[in-house]
Amino acid sequence: MSNRRTFAIISHPDAGKTTLTEKLLLQGGAIHLAGEVKARGAARRARSDWMKIEQQRGISVTSSVMTFQKDGTVFNLLDTPGHEDFSEDTYRTLTAVDSAIMVIDAAKGIEPQTRKLFEVCRMRSVPIITFVNKVDREGRPVFETLDEVADALALDVAPMSWPVGMGGIFEGVYDFASETIARPEGDSREFLGKRDPAAGAIPDEFLEEIELGREGYPQFDLAAYRHGDLTPVYFGSALKNFGVAELIAAIDRYAPPPRPQASDQGTIDPSRADVTGFVFKVQANMDPQHRDRIAFMRMVSGTFKRGMKLTPSGLGKPIAVHSPILFFAQDREIADSAEAGDIIGIPNHGTLRVGDTLSERNDVRFTGLPNFAPEILRRVVLKDPTKTKQLRKALDDLSEEGVIQVFYPEIGSQWIVGVVGQLQLDVLISRLEAEYKVEAVLEPSPFDTARWLKGTSEALRSFADFNLSNLAKDRDGDPVFMARSAWDVSYQQERNPELTFSATKER
Ligand code: G4P
Repeated sequence: MSNRRTFAIISHPDAGKTTLTEKLLLQGGAIHLAGEVKARGAARRARSDWMKIEQQRGISVTSSVMTFQKDGTVFNLLDTPGHEDFSEDTYRTLTAVDSAIMVIDAAKGIEPQTRKLFEVCRMRSVPIITFVNKVDREGRPVFETLDEVADALALDVAPMSWPVGMGGIFEGVYDFASETIARPEGDSREFLGKRDPAAGAIPDEFLEEIELGREGYPQFDLAAYRHGDLTPVYFGSALKNFGVAELIAAIDRYAPPPRPQASDQGTIDPSRADVTGFVFKVQANMDPQHRDRIAFMRMVSGTFKRGMKLTPSGLGKPIAVHSPILFFAQDREIADSAEAGDIIGIPNHGTLRVGDTLSERNDVRFTGLPNFAPEILRRVVLKDPTKTKQLRKALDDLSEEGVIQVFYPEIGSQWIVGVVGQLQLDVLISRLEAEYKVEAVLEPSPFDTARWLKGTSEALRSFADFNLSNLAKDRDGDPVFMARSAWDVSYQQERNPELTFSATKER
């Protein structure tokens, strides 16, 4: 069986994702990087600093994918941007993982962003391990947290461990399987590895609670977890490095190896011999002098060797991949080989796009990498009207990267950009100025949402006859219905049953 585990951490800002990432990398032997991850996480939260930091770093690939090894297992941790705001980047990254860790603050429970990210995972039946963080601080009662996860997410919960007290009376974490308690030690109460067999080691008041916990919830069931119906729950403190080793062991033991991927040729199994993969993210060099990009390819099958020729579905002719990038956390390493589940970075000049399939034999197209219906639409208005050509180029480029979506209305010259989070708009404006020397402002758009249209050319034509002012083309020239409201969408849907109005666009 494959020794790859490719996963992401989902959480609400401040729940402890950065701290946990740091500790995972520490345990995976990437010690000197740990401090940097932290600094980055804190910096990332400061929105105004964001562009500057990205610029200083150039291509910020090292934090996008972090690979570490432990006991023969290779862990690929894919970073999802830590902003309050959502971006398509976040959604798409989740299409490239096989499982996720959901980090919850013990005092706060399920927060809005946790829930949103969880829904994306559920859409694809991505199995989830829950880590209830910050048990070294006063938190909510354990039962309350577990019940909230179960109710809010409609998921079975199987506690794998139980905190013995929290905050000031924190005694350690009891592990159900081994029936031992891991205790904090020393002045800093860092976990130093001391374990007591449980008998006699736990104050009576907690024994009862633990017993109730063990009996009150479902037992862990591997099939139910892998199916996305049950989440094993671990308790710990990322800050105090408590419960992190158990978490790694759980990913190693339970998290699924690389999954088969849906394609136009049926599902492609990771055991297939020749190389296939798909691009889930494209990142431009922030240095305006360089138009280089890194395309992140998730390997679906085969063994990649440096110099190999792969054919991108969008291009039709093969490219030789001479300097692919692997992401071992200590360093960015040039890949010599990679396997199903791994991520490789492929430098290119804009030939590779999000959603592209790459394959040795050019005989397959992966499906199910959606564009999401934008939640915010804005008209782009140029300050200098002579810059139309530059603007068009910029919008095309940036939509290719997945920073924004762009819609070119059939009538009029006011181009519309769509995003799922406000931050994407900030990024758009600064990048237009910095990289394309285009000054633009964003104005409210008459439209509220967009739907991709599908149907026979005849049906599309007759729809257009009546609705031309609501039609646009996306970057690929595909027809999009621009709606003034959700009501508008359902009204048109009802009147035009021969057309499908889709909130996502699969490439
Ligand atoms: P994020 O990436 O999910 O946004 O969260 P991050 O790891 O940056 O953690 C947010 C805050 O919570 C940080 O405090 C961090 O130190 C703290 N934290 C993380 N894990 C634990 C834990 O297990 N126990 C406790 N008590 N605190 C934890 P901060 O004050 O915002 O930042 P800093 O000044 O400590 O860097």
